[in-house]
Amino acid sequence: MALSAAKCPSSSSSAAARLSLEHPSVRSSTLLRPFPNSALARRVPSRSFKNWNLSVVCKQEAGAVPVSSSAEEAPSKNVENGGLFGLSSEEYGHAIGLDASERESTVSITVVGASGDLAKKKIFPALFALYYEGCLPKHFTIFGYARSKMTDAELRTMVSKTLTCRIDKSENCSEKMEQFLKRCFYHSGQYDSEENFAELDKKLKEHEGGRLPNRLFYLSIPPNIFIDVVKSASQSGSSKDGWTRVIVEKPFGRDSQSSAALTRGLKQYLEEDQIFRIDHYLGKELVENLSILRFSNLVFEPLWSRQYIRNVQLIFSEDFGTEGRGGYFDNYGIIRDIMQNHLLQILALFAMETPVSMDAEDIRNEKVKVLRSMKPLQLEDVVIGQYKSHTRGGVTYPGYIDDKTVPKGSLTPTFAAAALFIDNARWDGVPFLMKAGKALHTRRTEIRVQFRHVPGNLYKRSFGTDLDRATNELVIRVQPNEAIYLKINNKIPGLGMRLDRSNLNLLYASRYSKEIPDAYERLLLDAIEGERRLFIRSDELDAAWELFTPLLKELEEKKIAPELYPYGSRGPVGAHYLAANYNVRWGDLSASETT
Ligand code: BG6
Repeated sequence: MALSAAKCPSSSSSAAARLSLEHPSVRSSTLLRPFPNSALARRVPSRSFKNWNLSVVCKQEAGAVPVSSSAEEAPSKNVENGGLFGLSSEEYGHAIGLDASERESTVSITVVGASGDLAKKKIFPALFALYYEGCLPKHFTIFGYARSKMTDAELRTMVSKTLTCRIDKSENCSEKMEQFLKRCFYHSGQYDSEENFAELDKKLKEHEGGRLPNRLFYLSIPPNIFIDVVKSASQSGSSKDGWTRVIVEKPFGRDSQSSAALTRGLKQYLEEDQIFRIDHYLGKELVENLSILRFSNLVFEPLWSRQYIRNVQLIFSEDFGTEGRGGYFDNYGIIRDIMQNHLLQILALFAMETPVSMDAEDIRNEKVKVLRSMKPLQLEDVVIGQYKSHTRGGVTYPGYIDDKTVPKGSLTPTFAAAALFIDNARWDGVPFLMKAGKALHTRRTEIRVQFRHVPGNLYKRSFGTDLDRATNELVIRVQPNEAIYLKINNKIPGLGMRLDRSNLNLLYASRYSKEIPDAYERLLLDAIEGERRLFIRSDELDAAWELFTPLLKELEEKKIAPELYPYGSRGPVGAHYLAANYNVRWGDLSASETT
């Protein structure tokens, strides 16, 4: 097989496992805590075999993956009788003298809630992209699970509609799609039925063909049925001798209390390290790059503190409303939907101290310290808004409460801005300003770092009275048009002495010809590899809720009315006053950014 284990994390299981054991940051304490009663799983390292010292390239040589081999697609007949040669896969492994790390393994990925939007738009396409890149293990099977009746062929037709190939890699695309779809199957069942999960288990076993079975469940379902599914899946659908992992996606509750109840419920059936809580923003390329930017460039890290940074802005804006999702959204609002998770996670990564290593626990330990050092949020440091209908160019855009799924008179914010502070030595007094809104004038997510004034600036006369115009600003544009740029002052070429503001600009589209993978691709791959770095640990989640719960309660109990802003505008004026209280201007609204 013409592929290198070092380069492709998902090559043969034994090579991969060997690599994992040699990895400098693999420690005995990171062994997988097994699903109850799985002794063998204890010997399977949970740490990814992704070697951070190497560049991880999944692409396998053409033909290296026997994608359409009949052994992959057709269930193994042997297993129906309890495994190869009538033995369970564990017994078989032992019989031939292999331990878990040496046996051929297989991964079964079950997408629970397969007919939902997230599954169709994100999960199946991400799995296909991983397959196309050669990142999925040699032996894998994908199952869709949902209540509706569907045949395998119908699932494949449904999935095929949302699969796309990267623009830069359309070679063999339809052939690959066909091969991928042959590995997709469907099982219809109730979410709380152990019996239905037992039927799924039987089908999975047939596909696993006596190999060491590893199972990943992606819960693409509403959170009120998480526990039912986890209970049934753990009791009837978990792997007996490989690993079992469950990916869950927010909302993880509505406040500290409900989130803790959810965590308790999940932990009745799963160990913490089997739970992969997704925050898909952590899978975005530029969010992942934050640590590289900071910790591998001498020019940034020394500036990363209150001494040089005046304020940090975390900005999320969408140019569309809740169209069609009003029912879900109204129960949460923008603070729970975006701030408490996506923006706060970015803040924690941005502000954390240097971790001991890139190991998941070391990074998450540092993130949680940031979250626990945050000052309680004050109501006066928060502005909320809600978009109202607006007519522009003859087109009328509906207001939030015009959405039929939104209760009349709803006070749910579709916009919020907040000033947060981290009470530690590095960040004392530095405002971290967050802003998140729907139905604004543009779609963008960015991190803006505004630096202090240059003390005793020799050129200050060139900037007039507004010295703010001369401060450096580092912008990390997460999306769209991914970029990192630094605003600097520069002399305009010529005989005179005129300065202007220029950008040192790393625009990804110009620098890299490769298409940027979707966040879900990275996260799914990490979950398959057992890499937890980009997933939220329960203590991080608790700390995040602890910060926002009192504020949310106060807003709701006092029935604070949101400031209305027109659909497609720059949001409520209150956000400017909030920033001005801290002597800050929103960088995204400065003249140079909006023209
Ligand atoms: C989700 C929110 O988590 O993120 C949505 O629930 C939001 O309201 C979405 O639209 C934005 O994600 P992305 O990746 O499109 O920026």
